[in-house]
Amino acid sequence: MPRHLLDLFELTPDDFTAILDRAEDLKREWSQGQRPARLPGRTLGLIFEKPSLRTRVSFETAMVHLGGKGLYLNAEDVGMGSREPIEDCARVLSEYLDALAIRAYRHELIETVARYARVPVINALSDLAHPCQALADMMTLREEFGRLDGLHIVFVGDGNNVARSLAVACALGGARLTLAAPPAYAFPDDFAARVRSVGRPDTYDHQPDPSLAVARADAIYTDVWISMGQEEEATRRLSHFQRYQVDEALMAKAPAHAVFLHCLPARRGEEVTASVIDGSASRVIAQAGNRMHVQKGLLSWLLA
Ligand code: CP
Ligand code: NVA
Repeated sequence: MPRHLLDLFELTPDDFTAILDRAEDLKREWSQGQRPARLPGRTLGLIFEKPSLRTRVSFETAMVHLGGKGLYLNAEDVGMGSREPIEDCARVLSEYLDALAIRAYRHELIETVARYARVPVINALSDLAHPCQALADMMTLREEFGRLDGLHIVFVGDGNNVARSLAVACALGGARLTLAAPPAYAFPDDFAARVRSVGRPDTYDHQPDPSLAVARADAIYTDVWISMGQEEEATRRLSHFQRYQVDEALMAKAPAHAVFLHCLPARRGEEVTASVIDGSASRVIAQAGNRMHVQKGLLSWLLA
C-alpha cells in the first residue's frame, strides 16, 4: 500500500519532523545552486478542479529540481466521476505516474482516488484540509523562531481548510493554536477533540474575540473569508467576519515580535489591510516560497 498525504492526521510527529528536516536540507542545497536529482525519471500528475498559482507552480518546479517531471492534467479532460468512474481513473493513472496531487471541491473525491490508486496521492487542497500549506507554514515558523515547540499561533477568521490543517500541524509540532473565529465558524467539536488527541491538551482553543486572542501570539494568521466554491455565501460571510480583519490596531495588541502569515491569495481590505500584509511583520512571500521546498521534502519522503 502506498503512503498518501490527504490530511496531516496521517503523520506521526516523527514523520512531520522528518519532512521538515528534508525540506530544510533541500532548501539549503538549492540556495547553494545545487539541484540533486533525488527522483530521476519520476512523474507527478497534477489535477486541479479549482484555480491555483502557488500549488501548481511549486509542485511542477519541485519535480524539475528533483530530476523528475510534473504533468498538469486538465481536470475537465480527465473527467473523474463524469467521463469515467473515479476508480478507473485512479487505477489507470497509477499505471503511468509515480504520484498524484489533486485539488478538489470534495475531500471524499481525493479519498476515493487514494483508495484505488497504487501510487501516493497528495491532497493539494480540499474543502477540509490543505496539508501542504500547513507544512510550509511550519517550515516558515521554524525558520523564524528556530523551533515550533511552545509557539502560539492565532488564526483570525474562518475555521476553514487552511485553519484546520494549521491546527493539526501545530499539534504535531508541539505548538498551540487559538482560533479567533465567530462561534458559527469555529471547528466542530469532534475535529477539536481529534486535534487535542494529537498534541498537548492545550494545543487548541477557541477565543471569538480577536483582540483577546492575540495578546501572547508569536504569529497571527488569516485567510480569505470566502473560499473557492463559497461565492454564493459572500454577502453573509462579509457581514459575519467584519470584526475579524487583521489591521495595525490588532497587530499592536500582539507582542512586538509577532509575525503575520497568510496562505495567499489575499483580499486586501477584507481579511487583512494592505499595511499589515505589505508591512515589516509580514512573512507571506517566504511562506509561499517554502511551498516548493516543503513539497520537495514531502515528495522525496513519499517516493524515496
Ligand atoms: N496557497 C495556495 O494554495 O495558493 P494557490 O491556490 O495559488 O495554489
Ligand atoms: N481557504 C482558501 C485557501 C486558498 C489557498 C480556499 O479554499 O479557497
